[in-house]
This record gives sequence, C-alpha cells and structure tokens, in this order.
Amino acid sequence: MSNFDIDAIRADFPILSRKINGQNLVYLDNAATSQKPKQVIAALTDYYEQTNANVHRGVHTLSIESTDDYELARTKVAKFINAPRPEEVIWTRNTSESLNLVSATWAEKNVGEGDNIVITVMEHHSNIVPWQQLAAKKNAELRYLAADEDGLLDVSNVDSIIDSRTKIVAATHMSNVLGTINPIAMLANQVHAVGGVILVDAAQSVPHMAVDVQELDADFLCFSAHKMLGPTGIGVLYGKYDLLDEMPPYMFGGDMILEVTYEDASWNDLPYKFEAGTPNIADAIATGAAVDYLSELGMDNVWQHEQELTAYAMEQILSLDNVKVLGPKNPCLRGGVISFIHDTIHPHDLGTALDQQGIAIRTGHHCAMPLVRSFDVVAAARASFYIYNTKSDVDALVNGINETEGYFSR
Ligand code: ALA
Repeated sequence: MSNFDIDAIRADFPILSRKINGQNLVYLDNAATSQKPKQVIAALTDYYEQTNANVHRGVHTLSIESTDDYELARTKVAKFINAPRPEEVIWTRNTSESLNLVSATWAEKNVGEGDNIVITVMEHHSNIVPWQQLAAKKNAELRYLAADEDGLLDVSNVDSIIDSRTKIVAATHMSNVLGTINPIAMLANQVHAVGGVILVDAAQSVPHMAVDVQELDADFLCFSAHKMLGPTGIGVLYGKYDLLDEMPPYMFGGDMILEVTYEDASWNDLPYKFEAGTPNIADAIATGAAVDYLSELGMDNVWQHEQELTAYAMEQILSLDNVKVLGPKNPCLRGGVISFIHDTIHPHDLGTALDQQGIAIRTGHHCAMPLVRSFDVVAAARASFYIYNTKSDVDALVNGINETEGYFSR
C-alpha cells in the first residue's frame, strides 16, 4: 500500500501495543492529538538527562548546548515548511496561541473601523472567537466564506466577500471536521490583490502533507507539534519577516527585550521579540525530532498513505446504511478526517461503545460548534488517521459500528 514499512513504523510507537478494555488499541483520534514515537520520547529524556539548562543566557556548556539544540529545532521546522528564514518561525504554546498572537498584534494594529475580516464557516473556535472579539472592538465586519452542500469552500462570491476593505483572511487549510482541503493559494492571491494578508490555520495539514509557505504565499501559518508526533504544549507561528518585524510584541518579559531602562524598553530581534520568558526548550527540541521522523518518511509518502486509507475508509463507511458522512465524498478532495453521524445512535454512545472495543474516536462538536450545528446535529463522531493506521484499523471501526448497531437494536 504505502511507500513505507508500516510494521516498522508501528514498532516505534510504544502506546500502540497497549490493550484498552482488553482489546488491541485502534487509535483513530489523530486530529485531536497524535501518538509519539520513541525517537520523540527519547529526545525529551535525553534533553533532561544530558543537556537541561536555560537558553540564550549562559556562557556555560549546558546552556550553549541547549541553545544550539533549541535553535536547531527551529531551523528544522523552517526547512520543513520551506520558510525562507528560521527567524520567521516563532515558538508558541499551540495553534490557538499562534492565531491569537496574530489577532492581538498584527490585526490589532492594522484593522480599523469599517474594515473587514474574512474567515470561513469551517473554522475551529480558535479561528472564530479572536476575530469576533476583534471585530466587535474595532467596529469592523466579520465576513464568512460559505461551504457548499458537498462541504467544499464556496468561492463563487469570493470577489465580493474579499474587497478593498479586507485586511485579513483567516482560513483553515484543512477542516478538522469535514476534512476539506481549502484553496489557500487562491485566497492568498485574492487578499494580496486588495492589500490584505492571509493567516492559515494549518493544524490539520502540516502533520499530513507537504506544506510550503512560499508556494501558498501564506503571510502567517500556524500549527501544533502534538498533532504531528511531537509533544503537547508547543506550537509554531510562521510569519513573513517584514510583517513580524513591524508587529508589536504579544507578551513582555525576559529575552524579548533589547534594552530596558526604568522609563522604557526596546525589543529584541526576531524571533525573540515574540518569545518572552524561558521558552519550552525541551518540547521545541522534541518537535525537531518529530520533524526528523516525518522528513525521513517523506511527507509525500505520508500523504499518499493517508489518501489510500481515507479512500478505503470512505468506501467502507459510506456503504453503511445508517451512517452519513459530513464533508466531501470524493477522497481526493479531503484529508484523513472523517466525521459521521449515525441515524439512531448518539455519537457519544457510539464513541463509548467503540472504546469498549479498544477503538478511540472523537465525538462532540470538535471545537467547531457553528459548523456541526449547521448539519442540524449537536455532535458528530470522527475518525482520523495517521502514519501508523492500517486498513485493518478501518475494518475494526466498521465492525465496531456494526456491533454497536446490533447491540442497540436488541
Ligand atoms: N482541534 C482538535 C480537534 O479537532 C483538538 O480534535
């Protein structure tokens, strides 16, 4: 099936040999967080056992080594997304913080009364709420690009939605509910033509496909390490150098200053201007290990594997009588995130019953309440794939749904 050795990959993930409720774990909640290979776990323990020291502050060996490793990880991330310069990679806590950072700095400075902000109806709460708040504060307008009935972004009216008053388009690259892949490069063109910028929520794309910020012409792009084999508590904001350079800081404190007097302060160069306080050193270094792992597999291979799995899963799930899939039916138009609704079994009941069979899926509104509600439901079940999933995981899911149906019809 794929261009890589799935058994060898699975052997790298200690958690995959766990039993859950007496069954082999079938982990299908990768859009929420991925599992971690032993190489990433080793990077964390190695750091704490061998190198632990604060960065950018010491003349002693451990501090110098920590600093080098921390900055090397930044360089690896920059290369991974083809950022022209490592200073354009800012470490944050997660995608949400990266999105909030842009809203609280770039947009706070550049969006004024009567301007508009354009997002899509398929955004995660973290790419809706900051814009609602900012629009209210600035008397700006929040506009939405709609989705069509197949769950694809409706760009038929993009010329009127993105207009001369549009300052920023903030759009997800891949929906965490529908799996839809959005035409980011096209939206970037549109907003650049009117002098605005584009912010991309790439939390669901960077872990799964080759993402090139230059090819997309993204001004800002955000993602989290924990969805791409890395640790929790660390994320990335990529930004074009000139934009980041002009932005005010997000947080004040150590490391982000150039000079402080009792009266005033000036700001450090990029990327440090946006990294106040002791950063998340260990997790940054482990993110570098995650990037190494994915780079070795090759992101085109990762994508191909997931596309094959998604096509198989769509075929199997769509063949179930009582199940409706949200989002595009054509597997080529989506990533490996499949949300579905059973006609009679509530997603939480389905999720609980599947857990009894060792199968982990996510249920709920997926932090995209308005989108899920637009399907006239309050919750959906969601299976999402990654490099270690196989067709037999999909079979387990489908059998699990059938078994649960049998149980509920008794
Ligand atoms: N945003 C993550 C998800 O979709 C947590 O599950």
